[in-house]
Amino acid sequence: MQDGYKIEMKDITKHFGGVKALNHVSLKIKKGEIHALIGENGAGKSTLMKILSGAYQKDEGQIFIDGKEVKITSPKDAKDLGIAVIYQEFMLAPDLTVAENISIDRLAATGALIDWRRLKKIAGDQLAKLGFNTIDPGTKVGNLSIAYQQIVEICKCLTRNADVIVFDEPTAVLTFTEIEKLFEIIRRLKAEGVSIIYISHRLDEIFELSDNITVLKDGGYVDTVPASSITKEILVSMMVGRTITQMFPKRNARIGEEILKVENLNAGTMVKDVSFTVRSGEILGFSGLVGAGRTETMRAVFGADKIDSGKVTYFGKEVHFKHPKEAVGSGFGFLPEDRKKQGLLLEQSIRINTTLASIHKVTNKLDIINHKREKKYVRELLEGINTKYGSAEDNADSLSGGNQQKVALAKWVFADCKCIVFDEPTRGVDVGAKTEIYKIMNKLAEEGVGIIMISSEMTEIIGMCDRVIVMRQGRVSGELNKELIEENALIKYAMGV
Ligand SMILES: Nc1ncnc2c1ncn2[C@@H]1O[C@H](COP(=O)(O)OP(=O)(O)OP(=O)(O)O)[C@@H](O)[C@H]1O
Ligand SMILES: [Mg+2]
Repeated sequence: MQDGYKIEMKDITKHFGGVKALNHVSLKIKKGEIHALIGENGAGKSTLMKILSGAYQKDEGQIFIDGKEVKITSPKDAKDLGIAVIYQEFMLAPDLTVAENISIDRLAATGALIDWRRLKKIAGDQLAKLGFNTIDPGTKVGNLSIAYQQIVEICKCLTRNADVIVFDEPTAVLTFTEIEKLFEIIRRLKAEGVSIIYISHRLDEIFELSDNITVLKDGGYVDTVPASSITKEILVSMMVGRTITQMFPKRNARIGEEILKVENLNAGTMVKDVSFTVRSGEILGFSGLVGAGRTETMRAVFGADKIDSGKVTYFGKEVHFKHPKEAVGSGFGFLPEDRKKQGLLLEQSIRINTTLASIHKVTNKLDIINHKREKKYVRELLEGINTKYGSAEDNADSLSGGNQQKVALAKWVFADCKCIVFDEPTRGVDVGAKTEIYKIMNKLAEEGVGIIMISSEMTEIIGMCDRVIVMRQGRVSGELNKELIEENALIKYAMGV
């Protein structure tokens, strides 16, 4: 029955309290196959992979490896069976070296008798095998770029002789050059017979990379299809249950007065002589490679980091936001890219997270919260962007990755800002919800809000922006008006060629 499959997950069911996260889901992966796992936010992709990796326990169902049924009751069981998962948030120790991280299991096992030379050699050999001789095994992992950290994570899996590797949204933190490198590695792994399970919301990647595609919807299994036999349109309709005619909805915003003007901004080592303006009703894009200084620029303007020199004018007045609170008080909002660290209070309820930046809207004159009004606001707002959640009183960390992003976004929509920075607003968000988020941004622009969107997705920059600033190594390397925004120009400025 299980002949020829490396992994078979059969009839897997999983509940979280009242939520049925997985309902009789099956997945079959061949040896040496790249198998994409797709579905909307909250569809159950990560949960299924956490069951495979021993992080969660299934309620029902069976798992077979090479045709034999196995019990996976802990992460160690999965490791011993050759299963490795690369999560979006890496599990590396930033203060240890590359070599130590790669051999971390052995370090724990051998105790005091560590053969450092051998560790370095293992790491060096593995890195060389993947074509990354440039990474020094003696470097602290915390000093590496995110892309290189991911390489280390992959090496760690390979030295454990993993022959099944799960990538859960690996490219969300990477830009185009790094993504190409990652794809090279994945193809090489496939050639060596490793089975790959690949989760991503970027359908172009799915088509570029995968052999077969399994679609989940609302915790249920939809279908498994060969990538070569299906179109993007059909795939989207399988995922969201309807066709999406327009990824980037039309916007009827009037571009008006200048809201924000930044001149010759210098801040720390990452922001050098940056100047730009944003007008009312305008969506200004910030493009560039990871580490180009886009987030750092906005953090400095927002009062989160210190400004060394330069001038910020907001509604015609020079301002010096010394703390994000001052910025927010002036109607300047910021949706940060790292929702785990800055965007959400994961241990607090969804309701509190949504109304956090604007609690005055649901309080009366005596500062007493009108709970009925608050509940209604929260519900309308979250449903407006199709957020999937159980109760508004559940903690934010019970949400799937993409739904956390929607709550983080809702908070700023609720706050009546006049100018908002959206830093990678659709990272990890499914195609249907992306369009919802674009609609929200358009609506804000139509209401006269000035919007700054930092994005590493070129299609989104091209589809959404009135104007785009490209940054490279801390400086503005180019500026393009709507009609001139296209891929080659963006790459040219981003890479400095
Ligand atoms: N630890 C948990 N506690 C409660 N509910 C959870 C937990 N983990 C997941 N869920 C719920 O299970 C469902 C499936 O979530 P999962 O994270 O698997 O989705 P996903 O397909 O990976 O989505 P995304 O694309 O947003 O990452 C969601 O409704 C989510 O809220
Ligand atoms: Mg997920």
